[in-house]
Amino acid sequence: MSELRAAVCGLGTMGRHHARVLAALPGVRLVGACDPDPGAGSGMTDVPVLPELDRLLELDPDLCVVAAPTLAHGSIGRRLAAAGVHALIEKPLAADAEEARMLAAAFERAGLVGCVGHIERFNPVVRAMRERIGGGQVGTVLQITTSRQGPYPQRIRDVGVVLDLASHDIDLTRWIAGAPYVKVSAVTSRMTGASGHEDLAAVVGVLRDGTVVNHLVNWLSPVKRRLVTVTGELGCLRGDLLGGTLWFHGSGAGAGLPDRGDGDRLPGGEAVRCELVAQEPLRAELEGFVAAVRGHAGVTADLVPMWAGAEVMDVTAAILAEPAAVVEVSASGGSIDERLRREAVREAVVPAPPRADQAVAAGTEGGLSAAVTSPGDLVAWSPGGLPTLVAGYVPMPGSRRWF
Ligand SMILES: NC(=O)c1ccc[n+]([C@@H]2O[C@H](COP(=O)([O-])OP(=O)(O)OC[C@H]3O[C@@H](n4cnc5c(N)ncnc54)[C@H](O)[C@@H]3O)[C@@H](O)[C@H]2O)c1
Repeated sequence: MSELRAAVCGLGTMGRHHARVLAALPGVRLVGACDPDPGAGSGMTDVPVLPELDRLLELDPDLCVVAAPTLAHGSIGRRLAAAGVHALIEKPLAADAEEARMLAAAFERAGLVGCVGHIERFNPVVRAMRERIGGGQVGTVLQITTSRQGPYPQRIRDVGVVLDLASHDIDLTRWIAGAPYVKVSAVTSRMTGASGHEDLAAVVGVLRDGTVVNHLVNWLSPVKRRLVTVTGELGCLRGDLLGGTLWFHGSGAGAGLPDRGDGDRLPGGEAVRCELVAQEPLRAELEGFVAAVRGHAGVTADLVPMWAGAEVMDVTAAILAEPAAVVEVSASGGSIDERLRREAVREAVVPAPPRADQAVAAGTEGGLSAAVTSPGDLVAWSPGGLPTLVAGYVPMPGSRRWF
C-alpha cells in the first residue's frame, strides 16, 4: 500500500499530540484535521484545519484519530465508519456501553480497523508488569490496586472522573490480569460548583479469576500520581506510570521461583528495580494502528479493539449506576477553624435507620436532595436499606466519623 492519508478530528490537548506523531510516522501523510474552534489549529501551519468533519472527509483520508470530547465520539465514529475510514477513537470509547457496542459493530460490519486509545497498554511500566505476571514472577495474582489522581482538568466538562480516569485503570487491570470484571462497587463524590459530574471515586471489584481490585481516582488533588500495585502470592510489583519505574518486592516465598539468572530471584523482602523497554506510548499506539490498517498480521495484538472499549464502559456504567454511596460535599472556604465552627452546628451522631415506610419514601424521593434541617435529615436511606451519604457523614449507626 502506498502512503496512508491520515486525519485528526478534534485538535485539543490530545489531538495535537496525535497530529504531531502521525505527521512524523514513515509512510503516513497527515492531510488535515477538523475542529469547530477556529483557534484550534494555531501553530500547525502545514495542515488544513477544517471546521467540520464533512469537509475533512472530502480530503479522502484512509484513517482518522478521533480526539474530540467523549460525548461526540459516537456520532463522529458512525460517520467515519459510513465513509469507510479506519478509526482510532480516544478513550473512553463513547458516552455509554450501548453506543460503544454500536461503534464496534459498525466498524466490524464495514471491515474497517476500529480501535480505542487506551494508551496505558503502551506504557513501558504496564507492559513490563503484564509480562512479569505472565511469566509467574508474583505467582497467583491476589490484588491489583491503582491510584490515579491530580488537579481538576479545566477542559473536561462532558464526563466525570470515572469515565475520564478510571476507564484507564479498568482497561489496564483487565489487560494485565487477563480476566474480566464480574463485580464492582463504588463510593463516588461530587464537589458542587465543579463540572457537575463526580470528581472522586473509590472502586472495589472482583475479576473472574478472583483477583480483588481497588481503584482510587480523583480530580481533587494538587499531587498528580498514577500508581499500580499488583500483589501476588510470591511478591508484589509496584509501578509508577508517571515516574516510569517498576519495582519487584519478593515476599519470601519467592525462593521457590526458578532461577532466571536475571537477579530477580529474591530471598524475600528485597526490592529489585525492573528494566523497562523505553518507548513513547503514543507513537507505539499509532504505529500499531497504522500497521493494522496496512493489514500486517500479528501487529494488532496490542491494539485495543472496540469491543474491549465497550467492556470498559460496562464497568464504568456499573460503577455509576449503582454506587454503594454518593457523597455530596460543598466546597467551603475559610480557615479550618472557621469551617469547623460553621460545620459544628451540623455535627451529630448518625441516626439509626428509619422505619421501613420512611426508608421507601426517602428512596423514591431520591434522598440526596433532602434539605439538611436537623441531624436526622443528614442521612437518606435507600429502599434496599443501603445508606446514601450526604453532607460528609459516614452513616454508620452511632458513628461520629467526619470526612
Ligand atoms: N489517552 C489519553 O491518555 C487521553 C488523554 C487526554 C484526553 N483523552 C481523551 O481525548 C478526548 C479529547 O480530550 P482533550 O483532553 O484533548 O480535550 P480538549 O478539550 O483539549 O480537546 C477537544 C477538542 O475537540 C474539539 N471539538 C469539540 N467538538 C468537536 C467535534 N464535534 N468535532 C471535532 N472536534 C471537536 C474542541 O474544540 C477541542 O479543541 C477525550 O475523549 C479524552 O477522554 C485521552
